[in-house]
Amino acid sequence: MGVKLMDSVESFGLFFQQAKRIFAPLLKIMFRTIDCGALRSTDAGQEVTLCGWIKTIRKFGSITFVDLRDRYGITQLYLNETLTATPDIASLGREYVIQARGKVIERSNKNPHLPTGDIEIEVQELKVLNKSAVPPFTIEEDTDGGEELRMKYRFLDLRREPVKKNLELRYQVSRAVRTFLDKHRFMEVETPMLIKSTPEGARDFVVPSRMHEGQFYALPQSPQLFKQLLMVAGYDRYFQIVKCFRDEDLRADRQPEFTQIDCEMSFVDQEDILNIFEEMAKQVFREVKGLEMNEAFPRMTYDEAMRDYGNDKPDIRFEMKIQHIRSLVQGKGFGIFDEADAIFGIVAPACSEYTRKQIDELTEWVKRPQIGMKGMVYIKCLADGTFKSSVDKFFDETALKQIATSCRAVAGDLIFILAGPLALTRKAISELRLEMGQRLGLRATDHFKPLWVTDFPLFEYDAEEDRYIACHHPFTSPKPEHLAWMHDRSKYADIKANAYDLVLNGTEIGGGSIRIYNREIQEIMFDALGFTREEADEKFGFLLSAFEYGTPPHGGIALGFDRLCALLGGSESIRDFIAFPKNNAGRDMMLDAPGPIDQKQKKELGL
Ligand code: AMO
Repeated sequence: MGVKLMDSVESFGLFFQQAKRIFAPLLKIMFRTIDCGALRSTDAGQEVTLCGWIKTIRKFGSITFVDLRDRYGITQLYLNETLTATPDIASLGREYVIQARGKVIERSNKNPHLPTGDIEIEVQELKVLNKSAVPPFTIEEDTDGGEELRMKYRFLDLRREPVKKNLELRYQVSRAVRTFLDKHRFMEVETPMLIKSTPEGARDFVVPSRMHEGQFYALPQSPQLFKQLLMVAGYDRYFQIVKCFRDEDLRADRQPEFTQIDCEMSFVDQEDILNIFEEMAKQVFREVKGLEMNEAFPRMTYDEAMRDYGNDKPDIRFEMKIQHIRSLVQGKGFGIFDEADAIFGIVAPACSEYTRKQIDELTEWVKRPQIGMKGMVYIKCLADGTFKSSVDKFFDETALKQIATSCRAVAGDLIFILAGPLALTRKAISELRLEMGQRLGLRATDHFKPLWVTDFPLFEYDAEEDRYIACHHPFTSPKPEHLAWMHDRSKYADIKANAYDLVLNGTEIGGGSIRIYNREIQEIMFDALGFTREEADEKFGFLLSAFEYGTPPHGGIALGFDRLCALLGGSESIRDFIAFPKNNAGRDMMLDAPGPIDQKQKKELGL
């Protein structure tokens, strides 16, 4: 009996499968037979049914043309006199969702800008599937909607072609990354989102616990500790495309929640990591941009980057390196130079023709509060080999020539000089360099110049808190040759780490390190960062304990997925590459979040 029942269940299942296969095409016809981007002149004569959104309606007397849009493209519909005269058609509006059945015909007036521009559909039947309110902005490449409005109606903004292209690119990048990592035996493992608040860089977002009144979870700033624990567990090669949360001040390349391509490997040194992730980056460039990068990515130490570019994420699409001229220009009676801790120059190529007005404007630019300089000196290297400067009173022709020679400036160039306190002046000259690069068109967004920056300091001094903090994070290992210095606070500033960043076009797109994998060294590190034993145990006891159970040497990296996508797509703003981003103030304009919660919820949470 039981067997019989099983038999009949099985044969019913088979029958159902068969029926599904037979009727599937018919079911499909109910809505559409093809998408809006597929038809070409070779399809002329075919009967088709399309579904989509009305992009535009153009009436020419008794006939009407409709551009129908879906994810795949746009197809022109041609509605004859009879159809145009029906009340349904008269009331059609932008963004209505319709279904149109008709015949593919060759267009007399072809549109070379549209892949489907050779054909149109001579519509026989048109059905409105859903109406639309008048959208608050035009859904075109260049919309008339302001940023806030587009964010509020993000579901409409997402219909726009450029936004869709960005999300398609994002998907392409993730697919390329996943394929690459899978091929190299990385295994994707999910890690928790509700974790414990740890003092690790940025501020945490916290979540109150209902079941443990007065206690809080934190959202992860990154899965750092989990990926290290996965190495302790023997998983060898881990990756995760994962959301991270950081409550920090926002910029064009920072969101409170963002995505990392997070990776970790065991039994590797720095060289292994740089090599494999360089290969991954090349694969992404190849698949997404069709770019073959045959050369190895340049490498630069942190010290070299600071010296030549004034920051740790140099834009090497152009030269214009920082010139150190303090010893050359001090002692000539010019007070500002004589009193300065740092004097830096940059050479703007072929800019000696800059007018007084242009130079004044740039001087005002460096005097803005964001840059904070008091002024700027210039030296024009004129075409006839003479010089003209804003410090002619203190520097004669020979002295100016000496400066120009030292800066490797040639006739026709313009030298800008900034002087002042070291950190401020270095930052200012670095910003000025980028600004000049921009103004001179040297930072094309389709020109990709990646590099590795290595040998970061282990610590950086936090003047506000008067203590050393980890430059990368507290789990980064010092260079073995500097390990002994961990016991000597006076040496902290000189200790270098096994830490590296991947930089692309002046943006840090990834950072990582070889980790500490020994309890004692980790404890020394916590101690150096000012944690008491109790604090270290309370916050990181699980890690210290794990280090006692056979931890392999390991290291890793995390790439900023949103930043990588934005750069590949030629944009500064990562928001353009996130489906539902927050605005500059960290608000979701569509959800209107964050928002208040009601009293009942508060009470439950003990708030
Ligand atoms: P790090 O803090 O350097 O390293 O982060 C890795 C990369 O993430 C990107 N990123 C951001 N992108 C958008 N918005 C933000 N707020 C934001 N913050 C960071 C950057 C950065 O290079 N656990 C370590 C990695 C490791 O050591 O393996 C970490 O999170 O592109």
